[in-house]
Amino acid sequence: MTDPLLDELLSLALEAAHRAGALLRDGRPDDLAVASTKSSPIDVVTEMDIAAEKLITGFLSDARPDDGFLGEEGASAEGTSGVRWVIDPLDGTVNYLYGLPTWAVSIAAERDGERVVGVVEVPMRGETYRAVLGRGAHCGDRRLRVRPAPPLDQALVSTGFNYVQSVRSHQADVAQRLIPRLRDIRRGGSAAVDLCDVAAGRLDGYYERGLHPWDLAAGDLIAREAGALTGSRPGEPASGDLTVAASPGVFAPLQRLLDDLGAWHD
Ligand code: IPD
Ligand code: CA
Ligand code: CA
Ligand code: CA
Repeated sequence: MTDPLLDELLSLALEAAHRAGALLRDGRPDDLAVASTKSSPIDVVTEMDIAAEKLITGFLSDARPDDGFLGEEGASAEGTSGVRWVIDPLDGTVNYLYGLPTWAVSIAAERDGERVVGVVEVPMRGETYRAVLGRGAHCGDRRLRVRPAPPLDQALVSTGFNYVQSVRSHQADVAQRLIPRLRDIRRGGSAAVDLCDVAAGRLDGYYERGLHPWDLAAGDLIAREAGALTGSRPGEPASGDLTVAASPGVFAPLQRLLDDLGAWHD
């Protein structure tokens, strides 16, 4: 399937993610500190989140000045081309702050409101995940496929916790009741990496409540193009309400169990 626009968007996303990843990996100050906080005192931003977003939006808008933008650190433009970039310049800021390796640059492109390209660069693993709508998901030369589904009680499932305390407490309560029903739970610290790990067959599933579009835009496409099912409440697409991503045999039982446990209730 040739579509020169998708080829262009993919190569721009790859280059922007690569440059931002190198900046974050090589430019991390030893005395990196919290620059500010957002939704709560634990929702931190560093100077590097902001520098990476600036680099990405500068690069992309030089190449395609008429595109729209939505970035976690404030990038926002309507655009007139029908293309919008959805950017998380540093997904996993808390890991990055502490020098833990699980963090990523996440860039997705939408055309007329539909996600068509997703790139997640994970510099400390030396991995770049990419997907184009209808063309599958890849990491380097490797075509990504979800792993064969085990029964739910043998599934390894990752999750995350929101920065808002009321949401967190509810998430902790759901996780506590979920643990005995699964093989185990992981909390990696980067939603984008979690979604790529589902795509790569390193996790059977992932769920989280309260994500923003920039957390999941690229990873959702990568997971789906690798054969995962993604969604929210039964019958709804993945959203901030609740994001569930899993291999096909795990998805429906996990979604049902989350429903039983009241995972999306306030
Ligand atoms: C966060 C990470 C984390 C998830 C949070 C996100 P950030 O993004 O993806 O794993 O649990 O919900 O907000 O703030 O590090 O870009
Ligand atoms: Ca953040
Ligand atoms: Ca994020
Ligand atoms: Ca971020």
